[in-house]
Order: sequence, then C-alpha cells, then structure tokens
Amino acid sequence: MNQRLPINSDSKSEHLLHRLYALQQQCLHISPEAIRQVANEFNLPVSQITAVVAFYAFFYQQPCGRYHILFSNCTSCGYLADGENLLLQFSQHLDVAPGKTRLDGLVSLGETSCIGLCDHGAAMLINGLPIIELDANRIEQIAQLIITETPLTNWPTEWFQVNDIVHKQGLMLSENFTVGSSLKRALASSADDLLAIIEESALCGRGGAGFNTAKKWRICQQASGSAHYVVCNADEGEPGTFKDRLLLRSHVEAMFEGMALCAYIIGAEKGFIYLRGEYRYLLPHLQAVLDQYRQLGLLGNHICGDVAFNFDIEIIVGAGAYICGEESALIESLEGKPGIPRVRPPFPVTHGYLGQPTVVNNVETFIAAAQIVLHGSDWFRSVGTEQSTGSKILSVSGDCQLPGIYEYPFGISVQQVLHDCEAKEVQAVQIGGPAGRLIGKEDFNRRISFEDLSTGGSLLIFGKHRDLLTINRNFAHFFAHESCGFCTPCRVGTKLLKNNLDKIADGRGTQQDVVEIKQLSDLIQRHSHCGLGHTAANHMLDSLQHFPQAIEDLTQQVFAPPFALDEAIKDACRITHRDDAVARLK
Ligand SMILES: Cc1cc2nc3c(=O)[nH]c(=O)nc-3n(C[C@H](O)[C@H](O)[C@H](O)COP(=O)(O)O)c2cc1C
Ligand code: SF4
Repeated sequence: MNQRLPINSDSKSEHLLHRLYALQQQCLHISPEAIRQVANEFNLPVSQITAVVAFYAFFYQQPCGRYHILFSNCTSCGYLADGENLLLQFSQHLDVAPGKTRLDGLVSLGETSCIGLCDHGAAMLINGLPIIELDANRIEQIAQLIITETPLTNWPTEWFQVNDIVHKQGLMLSENFTVGSSLKRALASSADDLLAIIEESALCGRGGAGFNTAKKWRICQQASGSAHYVVCNADEGEPGTFKDRLLLRSHVEAMFEGMALCAYIIGAEKGFIYLRGEYRYLLPHLQAVLDQYRQLGLLGNHICGDVAFNFDIEIIVGAGAYICGEESALIESLEGKPGIPRVRPPFPVTHGYLGQPTVVNNVETFIAAAQIVLHGSDWFRSVGTEQSTGSKILSVSGDCQLPGIYEYPFGISVQQVLHDCEAKEVQAVQIGGPAGRLIGKEDFNRRISFEDLSTGGSLLIFGKHRDLLTINRNFAHFFAHESCGFCTPCRVGTKLLKNNLDKIADGRGTQQDVVEIKQLSDLIQRHSHCGLGHTAANHMLDSLQHFPQAIEDLTQQVFAPPFALDEAIKDACRITHRDDAVARLK
C-alpha cells in the first residue's frame, strides 16, 4: 500500500510539479540527481520526490526523444479512429517500437489515455502540442519532418489548429459574456444574498456526481479554518470528454468570475485551477486572460474597489493522471504529492487543501454560477427538469457525421442527440465515458439528467459494425492503467479484468471467464476505495446485461488456462530439448 506523505508546509514560489516539469524539459528526463536536487530545493525527503516522479505518467526517469510523441489510445480518438494502425505505421516509419526511445535519442513513441480531441479524429501530442486528424498520409509526413529534424515551428500550422466545433448552443453557450459583468453584479449584493440566488437556481455540479452547488458552498462558508480555498477542476480526464477544452478556450472569463464569486461567498483569498497536463498548450491563453483580469482590478487586492475582497488564482498543471480528477486526489496533487484519493469523510469542503475548507467544482459549474448571478435563477430554471435545472454541455463523438459540442436543456433524450449528430445504425451509446453507462437501442428514449442518465459530458456512439468486446477491452486497459494502486480491489481487480478480456479476445475464453468477470466486476465496484474503482466495471456489467452475445459467443470452450501454456513453457522446452506431450502437460 502506498505510504501517505507529509504535507509540504514550506510554501514555495514554484509548484513541485512545475519544477519537475521544467527540469524534465532541460534534460528530457528526471534523473536521480535531479530528484536529489529538487528534494534539497523543496526541503522534502528524496523518497517523496521519487514517489511523485513515479506516480505521474508524464514524468520520465529514462530519457525521452527530442521529439516525444504520445498517441491517444482512447476508445474514441484511438480505436474508433484507427489509432492502433496509425501508431504501428508511425513506429515503422520511425524505426522505434511503441513505448521506446530510439537509440539515437531522436524520437520516443508512447501511448496515453484520451487527450480530449475526440472531435478531431485520431490525435497525438508531440512535445506537448496537439496534432489532429491523423491519417496514413499525415503520419508519413510527420515521420519525414522528424527524420530531417525540422523544428516544430516550421511544421504546417493547420496540423496544430484545434478548432471548437459547436453544433448546438443553449442557455450557456449562446450568451455573450462581458468581462467583469458577473463579478460587478455579485459585489453589489451580500454574500448571503448571492448564495440564495445560487440556491434558488438548484444548480448541481457538472463534473458528473451532481452535488448541489449552493449546499457545497454553504458548508464551506460555515466551516472553520485558517483559510478557505476555491479549486476549479479542469482535469477533464474521462475519455470522450472535451467540453471543458472548449470552455477553457472560449468561455474562461465566466469561469474566473464564477470562481471569484465563490471566493466572495466562502471567504477565500486564493484559488487554483487544476489543468490537466494534456491541456498544457492552453496555458498561455489562460495566463493572458488572468493577467487581463488583474490589470482590470477584477482579481488581486481590493477587487472592484472593495477593500475587503482580495482573491487571486494560480494555475497548476497536472502530469498525466486520470485519478487526479477525483477531488481529494486533486488536492493531494495540489499539495505536491502523488494523487492518491483521501479517506472521506472528512470531505474537502471542510478539510481540503492544506486541511482547510475547500470548494472543488467543475469548469462548467463555475461558468453556470457566473451566468446565474448575471441573469437570475428563474432564467436558469427556465430550462431543464425538476431535479436537473439548466442545460448540459455534451461532448459527442464516435460513429456519427457531426461530432462536436452540443448544449441541451437537461432532460433531452439520447435519441434526439443521436438524430442531431446524424448517427446512423447505432448499436450502443456510452454515456459519461468508460466510468458511465453503456446503453442499447431499447434505452435510447432515456433522458440525460441527474434523475435518469447522469453524465459529466461524454457521449460516445458505437455503430453496428463495432466489436463491443474490443471497446470493453479498451476501457478495461484504461482502468487498469489509471488505477492509482492504493487499494487492492481496484489495483488487482482492474488488472484481472483486463487479463480476462484479453484472454477472450485471444480466442481462449471460456464460460468460466464470464463467471469470473461478473464476480470481479462486482468485487471492484463494491470494495474499492474511491469513485474510480466504484465505476471501473460499469461498462462490463452493462455489456453483459445488454449485449451478452458480444462476449458469450466467443466463449464456447469448457476450460482454457489463464495464460497461453505453450507460449509460457516455450523457453523451458527449448533449453531442455523437450517437445513431447508430457513436457507440454498434454
Ligand atoms: C476517477 C474520477 C475522476 C474524476 N474526474 C473529474 C474531472 O476530470 N473533472 C471534474 O470536474 N470532476 C471529476 N470528478 C468528480 C470530482 O471528484 C468532483 O466530484 C467534481 O470536481 C465536483 O465538481 P462539481 O460539483 O462541479 O461537479 C472525478 C471523479 C472521479 C472519481
Ligand atoms: S479505487 Fe483505484 S483509484 Fe481509487 S484509491 Fe483504490 S486503487 Fe486508487
């Protein structure tokens, strides 16, 4: 079990994750010497820095290539977009195996979970920059540019251009937002009046769990502590989700103001945006808008002339860990530690960052709060359902003609979304990413809302021709990779689930494997420590319930060992010069 590390009480001007990233930029990896140096600088034990470096997927202890490539292996921008084949082609062109660095140090080729570009076909990050719409032709061109060591600045700019594809605007996205408008309106009211407006709107969190926002803010406001904190969760790691990418690029002013009015209500002077490492390329834009806010007196000391209101925001960039979207893991990461979820209760709202009362909300939730203050709670409640007021911004991708962003009033049916995005011959839809629910045709009349199908925003569409076992395998590999390893049911269970599915895909599946998959799924769901484990087997249970034939048709045998026996004893047979039936246990 991972050891809990002490809080770094020495406050540093540079965040630990940023310092490590900067060192890695210089040396293309983080060496034992660099770890000792950082431990010294931060006055922390070497073991803590080593644990942090080992925890985050984007920190490397072996040198990367000068061109460091990370292919998205997400179901949507990977499997559905033929990413696996493209990766192999790349590997051949560049003469480097996936997961390796070429001996001359020119290039390293790796895979990563979803990079939030599912509306742009197969995609990858190269030295942190996104390249979209990969196909065989583009792969070949990229390989040539790498072989000739052409600087990225001389590559075609359109390859890096991530446009926001918005097909449907609703309550939030259709509003033009004037800088400072929400904040100025907020400061004309008392904190309690503002909280009452948020309460009347019945706004619930947009990150997935749907907790009542006003209730969270009120508990935090009333909690005692030496300081209160506001944290914006911009980790957006759920594969198939990319709506926060749009919001961070095009609606970030409202997000800053939502955070500021939360700070005004709860009495915070400091806020953080926890930005996923995959979105590092958004940092310059976010910093520029932050600077503009400071210059306009909308952040910093005495905001809008109110001598009692001081609040500023710092952006902390993550380093490739899906679990850091879980709020307590995120706070651990903010504190410069591995992102291992805390034991809850106590919840962050009373014992969060540095043990102090902390509000953590999703990007979309803060934007909604800023808009509610501006337009009123009736405006917000004018759409949606009784328990799910307002609208939801969806990231739609997969087998449809029009992938992109869609904003709907809560209560919209899945069928309507499929119609709008021109999805034909749909076999299944995954709502809420791999951690969400897989539904078939019989459920397409169900509604997106907290009372029916809840989602953080991802809607993945699988056409008739898709092999659901491959999709389940992709999800199972994702969870096995992203499990933080803290608790046994999730750490071991997700790996066993992955192995079972690999075995079936290998053609060695049996009925017993299906029984084991059900038992394992139940165990992972019920006995894991945090939300990742609680939801990691949802897709499997849904698949077995709605599409049993997808797996059972492949499991006709009575028994097959959990590994390929001939392969496992190959070396022993060779060394002993034996290849007879007894040696092979036949
Ligand atoms: C494994 C895991 C990953 C999560 N990832 C995110 C995420 O990327 N963004 C997010 O807002 N919430 C995420 N959450 C939910 C957060 O823990 C938390 O509920 C949310 O940030 C609260 O904000 P909200 O009330 O505005 O939704 C995740 C939860 C789990 C268990
Ligand atoms: S459930 Fe998984 S991710 Fe959560 S604490 Fe346990 S091992 Fe870590």
